[in-house]
Amino acid sequence: MSQLKWWETAVIYQIYPRSFQDSNSDGIGDLNGITSRLDYIANLGVDAIWISPFFKSPQKDFGYDVSDYCDIAPEYGTLNDFERLLSTAHSLGLKLMIDIVAAHSSDQHPYFQESRQSKRNSKSDWYHWVDPMPDGTPPTNWLSFFGGSAWSWEPRRQQYYLHNFLPSQPNFNFSNPKVLDYFEEIARFWFDIGVDGFRLDAVHTINADKPPYKNNTPNPNFVLGPLPLDQQPFFRQLHDFAQLNQPGIQEFSARMRVVSDSYDDRFLMGEVDGDNEDAMKVSKSFTEDGRLHATYNFDLLEWNGLTVDGVKQVINKAVEIFNNTGKLCFAFSNHDVPRSLSRQLAPLNIKNEHGEALQLLLLKLESCLIGSTCIFQGEELAYEDVEDIPVEAMKDPWGIEFAPIFPGRDTCRTPMVWDANLPNGGFSDANKTWLPISKKHLKKAALEKVKNDGSTYNKFAQFLSWRKKQPAFMQANKITQLSGSERQIIFDRISDQQTLRCCFDFDSLTASFEEI
Ligand code: GLC
Ligand code: CA
Repeated sequence: MSQLKWWETAVIYQIYPRSFQDSNSDGIGDLNGITSRLDYIANLGVDAIWISPFFKSPQKDFGYDVSDYCDIAPEYGTLNDFERLLSTAHSLGLKLMIDIVAAHSSDQHPYFQESRQSKRNSKSDWYHWVDPMPDGTPPTNWLSFFGGSAWSWEPRRQQYYLHNFLPSQPNFNFSNPKVLDYFEEIARFWFDIGVDGFRLDAVHTINADKPPYKNNTPNPNFVLGPLPLDQQPFFRQLHDFAQLNQPGIQEFSARMRVVSDSYDDRFLMGEVDGDNEDAMKVSKSFTEDGRLHATYNFDLLEWNGLTVDGVKQVINKAVEIFNNTGKLCFAFSNHDVPRSLSRQLAPLNIKNEHGEALQLLLLKLESCLIGSTCIFQGEELAYEDVEDIPVEAMKDPWGIEFAPIFPGRDTCRTPMVWDANLPNGGFSDANKTWLPISKKHLKKAALEKVKNDGSTYNKFAQFLSWRKKQPAFMQANKITQLSGSERQIIFDRISDQQTLRCCFDFDSLTASFEEI
């Protein structure tokens, strides 16, 4: 019944492949594992899946450090396995999106391996190489997200290279047109195979600028907070002239759009963040005509959680900036932040025992907002965050760098539990899984929840099937200004055929809908 494109209203299920299902007993999830569980996802009633990176990679940042963009990491399977996954997903009516990490590659990528050898080789200007200052120090004061300087020294070239994340994730130099050509090739490779869209990782950190670079200025609003994320040195600087959201990025957006427009009905969603309150506004510039279709937004992913008023402010901002469009994608959880259920209890002033009800309410709320939404594996089971990963067992490089004050991102990345009676909760037959299985999740085994009518999985499935029949959600992306008491969020979703008043009550933890 919808005239909108599929992605304008899509509920997208994010799969973290390492932790979804292991099919060959090595303790690591893989593509065949995902294929074997696609029914479970399709029956939930989502429209699409997005799979975090499974490309060849030394896994220093668990796949967000790619050494071959057009091949599969052996621990995840083969291209044939991927094609089987894709055709199974399509046969179940699911679109499939993959994660393209364009901002940086792995240092094991053959182009970086060549680039670092000398100042004169065929890839010498594919990354950002800058001479040291006369005293030998790095060219600027820029910091990496994951700690320390954003510059690392390469003795063979006697130069520094830029990395906004780990030193093993060198930034591509997007002022070199050959780099754009390369990403066009990669995009065509995957579109030709038949993927329906890309989630473009960290596009706001793509670097297309040329030296001489300026130092970042101190962030006057930086407060050393009690919470781990507030202590990240990266946020001590402003990034007005470097590292984030620099103008050259849009050449990348435009090129990707030309490529995707040469295929049928494909979707480009860019992960865009910024330094300040204006990040959502900035993200809109990525979705202007001829650029990306939509932006993956961080505002509901706030590490420390949001109050009811905080959520309202985010929705109001979206109404102001993106109303009447599907160019925005919200998420409450992903592989980078503590799980929404755990994060949101305290700021919303809700007791632990009501966690499941809260989770369902958040899932419904995000699926009623304009644009698409991404839910993260385990949210449909009301998974809590895992708090018990000892430093010795941590895997996330960011977490390890800042341990023990910062828990890192392993706590939301532990494997799915399918059947509590099987070894490792049915995730794997291995003696040891790459991250431990959470005892908390053993009580929330997926296959049990599927059988139980009252489970979050089934209630959300019922909700999604009802949602698909509402013109107010499926035929327009229009929302009115918000109202409601301090503990409520109320808005109308409006299409030509229907006005639906949506009320989310954080006292009773219920959502109600009324046609008006
Ligand atoms: C994105 C990913 C994150 C990764 C980072 C660097 O933010 O979501 O997991 O560490 O990019 O690629
Ligand atoms: Ca495996």
